[in-house]
Amino acid sequence: MIERTACGKIILFGEHAVVYSRPALAVPLSQLRARVRVQARAMPGIRVRALDVPREFELGDAADDALAVIVRLTLAQLRASADLILEIESAIPMASGLGSGAAISTAVARALAAYFGTEFTPAELAALVYETEKIYHGTPSGIDNTVIAYEQALCFTRKNPPQENALTPFAIARPFTLAIAHTGIASPTKITVGEVRRGWLENPARYEKLFDEIAAIVAQAQAALARGEIETVGAWMTRNQRVLEELGVSSRAIETLLQAGLRAGAFGGKLSGGGRGGNVIFALAPRDAEKIKRALLDAGATSVMITEVGQDLSGF
Ligand code: MEV
Repeated sequence: MIERTACGKIILFGEHAVVYSRPALAVPLSQLRARVRVQARAMPGIRVRALDVPREFELGDAADDALAVIVRLTLAQLRASADLILEIESAIPMASGLGSGAAISTAVARALAAYFGTEFTPAELAALVYETEKIYHGTPSGIDNTVIAYEQALCFTRKNPPQENALTPFAIARPFTLAIAHTGIASPTKITVGEVRRGWLENPARYEKLFDEIAAIVAQAQAALARGEIETVGAWMTRNQRVLEELGVSSRAIETLLQAGLRAGAFGGKLSGGGRGGNVIFALAPRDAEKIKRALLDAGATSVMITEVGQDLSGF
């Protein structure tokens, strides 16, 4: 039996504008992982077991959903076939802006490649998984699959064609504490990305201006991260959140958690990912972590994760 994993991710700055080729900053969440086991099967065909959903299907009978597609695409790329059982487990909450779909697809591709005695490069993995991201998201920027495939903190700018996407590891001078608070609302990225697209089609000048504002915030935040000025990073998060509100992707649940975190002493915060539901993130001082976590839970967060965001550029 072969097992491979892939991490989740969180966008620190720049979601939505990144779909329109502005830069965004995202980091891997290495402690949150999707896990896939592959083993030989005595019966013909490929059986896929998604243990958390739970859902189980024969690949031969499955429609073109993201899970079936990544198995088919990976086998085609490997020019391989076999009778197999795939078991999928994930600790990454779904529809929360943490990259669960991309992580599952990445772990599937890694595990199948390893089963057949080979390995994809991060660029190959990112390209494969991008195909399934289109099913989850409609018009994905490619940031999720890229950060997950490389498992590196990346400044990502979408280009056309996707092979020319610009990826640069960004410096975080001082590791800092991030709280990730879940609103309890599952919000598929496809919906908010679609709404932003409709707004942009109706009023391109207004939306392009908002995307430019986000790009300027990303540049300032990147400079603050490189200087290790975490209070400033927090302040830029709150500025980014205000523009996301103007884009129409915030919600009362997000705003309630944001205010609770700020009142409890976070340096700043914002929604992360598609918005509307999903997670709100906060930059904070480690000494305030427990107090802020309690305040977020009291304000209705269904879970609060406290994590260190730092950097490991080795092996990029
Ligand atoms: C989703 O994690 C981030 C969005 O910017 C969509 C995308 O980049 O594909 C909302």
